[in-house]
Amino acid sequence: MKRQKIAAVLGGADINQDVLVKGWVRSFRANRFIALNDGSTIKNIQAVVDFENFDEALLKRVTTGSAIAITGKLVESQGAGQAVEIQVENLEVIGDANPDEVQKTVMQPKKHSMEFLREQAHLRFRTNTFGAVFRIRHAVAYAIHKYFNDNGFYYLHTPIITGSDAEGAGEMFRVSILDPKNPPLNDDGEVDFKEDFFGKQVNLTVSGQLEAELGALALGQVYTFGPTFRAENSNTSRHLAEFWMIEPEVAFYDLKDNMDLTEEFLKYIANYVLENCADDLEFLNEREAKEQQQKPQNERHELSLIDRIKFVANNEFKRLTYTEAIDVLRNSKPYKKGKFEYDVEWGVDLQSEHERYLVEKEYKCPVILSDYPAEIKAFYMRQNDDGKTVAAMDVLFPGIGEIVGGSQREERLDILKKKCADFDVPEEEIWWYLETRKFGSVPHAGFGLGFERMVMFVTGMTNIRDVIPFPRTPQNAEF
Ligand code: 4AD
Ligand code: MG
Repeated sequence: MKRQKIAAVLGGADINQDVLVKGWVRSFRANRFIALNDGSTIKNIQAVVDFENFDEALLKRVTTGSAIAITGKLVESQGAGQAVEIQVENLEVIGDANPDEVQKTVMQPKKHSMEFLREQAHLRFRTNTFGAVFRIRHAVAYAIHKYFNDNGFYYLHTPIITGSDAEGAGEMFRVSILDPKNPPLNDDGEVDFKEDFFGKQVNLTVSGQLEAELGALALGQVYTFGPTFRAENSNTSRHLAEFWMIEPEVAFYDLKDNMDLTEEFLKYIANYVLENCADDLEFLNEREAKEQQQKPQNERHELSLIDRIKFVANNEFKRLTYTEAIDVLRNSKPYKKGKFEYDVEWGVDLQSEHERYLVEKEYKCPVILSDYPAEIKAFYMRQNDDGKTVAAMDVLFPGIGEIVGGSQREERLDILKKKCADFDVPEEEIWWYLETRKFGSVPHAGFGLGFERMVMFVTGMTNIRDVIPFPRTPQNAEF
């Protein structure tokens, strides 16, 4: 008999047919009811055993965490909680799980702390919460590829090992095969990277944008979707040292086009998850609702998880410039009462407390901030006519803060060269980038979406470590 996935069986297999399912036992109650899960859905299938027909020794091995195969007739269920169940005719244990050891793991069916679950990242997939999170993570990735494919973008693979620091923030992981104890030195006594694998200093990429621009200036519209590495030592609930970023880049786009694309794209993902992840979303919605009850009233979400996603899908994002935002912040209650930890004045980088105020208190919706001071943004952003600001944009989401960063790019060679000098970006390192401005340079724009931050938003997870299978953070690279 051909094995069927539990999702398919529960989703409408014929009643009174024999089925074969395989999966992991979640529980075995009263020597009679097996709850079996195979990862295809958050729902378990109930399998009913008539213990008199089975060897006692065999049934003893049917324990939480063990892997089994079941054949039997699919029937309408007598009990509440499920429409159908399997009357077990044949049962095989494929992989045992020692109950004493299972006790010590996250498979033990009870509430575990998120920290404990992280320590057992190899087993947390077996829990309902992480099953739901990683099925949704997959759906978001698929939705992203589908959106771009349906809209005529090409998926461009940009290098992971690179010699440039696209964001100019110096937060790079070096890639080297030199012996750290005995590196070759040059005449000045410095490490001689000419002797290294690539004959120069290279690092893991912080962004595929610069290469994506090269593609966009011929293919018209491209996107990247790959791992990104930042050695910023920020141990926060929103930062990873290794995260995934999506970077579309479009020729002949200005900043307004870029904002329109971002908004449509984020709404598409929200809708996709609502339409395709109902079971997992309902579980996470319920889970969050229970957790919210433990919290003081003023820390609770105003909307449920599902309603927050619907809100993003159905409402216009608020758009305002950095300069306007500074005015709003300086006129706000927390500013006037001295409640902000960091000062607000034109020219400073906004802190997360300021961003959260704008999104969660002032506008209560996603916000697109644009036209930031040139000094606090990257060298490649297009200079505005005021000479002070650049055509940058950040999208801020409730509960997350910055989820997207993007800009119109500087397409004028003379200005770009001046920016390189101002920002200490050596021209010889990115000569290839500058060359595109010599041959048919055109206005173009793009943005970067932090994949994990988007997954946080649609799952309601509050720590970024819980939406990536194996998080990389300072002092932590287990698994
Ligand atoms: O704002 P960022 O640094 O922008 C860029 O890298 C541009 N090259 C994008 C572009 O225009 N093509 O990063 C983009 C997004 C952020 O808004 C955030 O969502 C996410 O990437 N991000 C991180 N996510 C997790 N951990 C980190 N350490 C992150 N740093 C940035
Ligand atoms: Mg940014």
